[in-house]
Amino acid sequence: MSMTDAAPAAAPALVPVVVIGAGGMGRAWIGTVLRSDAARLVGVADVLEGAAERAVAEVVPEEQRAAIVTGTDALDVARRSGAEAVIDVTIPAAHHAVTADALHAGYPVLGEKPCAATLAEAVSLAGHAEATGKLFMVSQSRRNNPHLHEARRLADELGGAGIVDTRFYKAPRFGGFRDEMEHPLIVDMAIHAFDAGRVLIDGNPLDVTATSYNPSWSWYAGDTAATVTITYDSGVVHTFAGSWAAPGAETSWNGDWRISGEHGSVLWDGETAPTSHAAAAEATEARLGRAPDPDARWELADSLERFCAALRGGPVPDSEVHANVWTQAIVEAAVRAADTGVRVQLADLLEEALAAARILDSADGRSSALHSWNTGTSGLSIG
Ligand SMILES: NC(=O)c1ccc[n+]([C@@H]2O[C@H](COP(=O)([O-])OP(=O)(O)OC[C@H]3O[C@@H](n4cnc5c(N)ncnc54)[C@H](O)[C@@H]3O)[C@@H](O)[C@H]2O)c1
Repeated sequence: MSMTDAAPAAAPALVPVVVIGAGGMGRAWIGTVLRSDAARLVGVADVLEGAAERAVAEVVPEEQRAAIVTGTDALDVARRSGAEAVIDVTIPAAHHAVTADALHAGYPVLGEKPCAATLAEAVSLAGHAEATGKLFMVSQSRRNNPHLHEARRLADELGGAGIVDTRFYKAPRFGGFRDEMEHPLIVDMAIHAFDAGRVLIDGNPLDVTATSYNPSWSWYAGDTAATVTITYDSGVVHTFAGSWAAPGAETSWNGDWRISGEHGSVLWDGETAPTSHAAAAEATEARLGRAPDPDARWELADSLERFCAALRGGPVPDSEVHANVWTQAIVEAAVRAADTGVRVQLADLLEEALAAARILDSADGRSSALHSWNTGTSGLSIG
């Protein structure tokens, strides 16, 4: 048979998945799986009686509903539905238990951000992934933005990101838990910018300083304005300044970015293609970055595709738990720096988290993987 007669390679089998947690974001994930050409929805679980069924009734087309297993016990739903993997879209406080249980039951996990409620729990989950040999990837969806990756490419042309500045100003009135959090901006929003900064900057974050405050007119109980600086071991500094109580002239949800390198700067409004401004061409027009490919995958769809590809033998995703822990470490360091006024070293914070995670794991009894970590930071390079 000649090469031209050869049958096309078979597409990898769809990954049957269960969505755990049927709230607002769970619904978004159910829709994403239904539209995916890498996964298929076989079940939905939520601890609240009737919640999984309600989400299926709202999001899944009527003719497909009968095939979806639902229930309040995630592992029972996974077993009964023949799932191969699960997507953890529960509240952050439940991430550690839900993800660890799924990994130990043999299911790879794609988890919503944050990795876990605390840095110690996140480190513990890295250990559970090692102990079980199962993939745990965190969906940090805003890093899956083709404009962000184009900004990185343009910055590389100008000598690489050396100074990174993000301004984020919006005035949403969410109601609910964000209005009551101590650090709603840093914990619930700035995490995305911190993670996107890691896409642009080489090296690992080294230390963090932060000031947080609550403007007098704020409708939030906690600090909804902050300035955070993150210094990387490559010498690059990422500065984030923003607020969720800044009405008028609002930025995009991704924020406004300026990335400067030796030979020029890149500007990105967070929504449209970034522009490149070479030093030598200061007087001429800015160069517009490439528009995303029409087939480019964005946000949740991209996370799901990368997760499924990894399960079918593809590369380890860039937000596999070990790599993602760095993003959670920046958040926890920013909160501590804001609360104490001290410059927080990530190595110290990760060392503390490793000690606390070992205590969690020995009480739990299922994973001793963290005993092989020499330090909190060295263990993260395993992934
Ligand atoms: N990537 C993003 O832009 C983005 C946006 C919003 C939320 N999120 C993340 O998505 C996750 C869910 O957020 P949400 O807004 O959907 O919250 P939500 O409160 O609307 O829904 C969470 C659901 O999880 C269920 N749940 C809680 N504990 C459970 C358990 N042990 N087992 C099964 N179900 C359980 C709850 O009953 C609830 O229905 C959070 O981690 C949040 O940070 C991400």
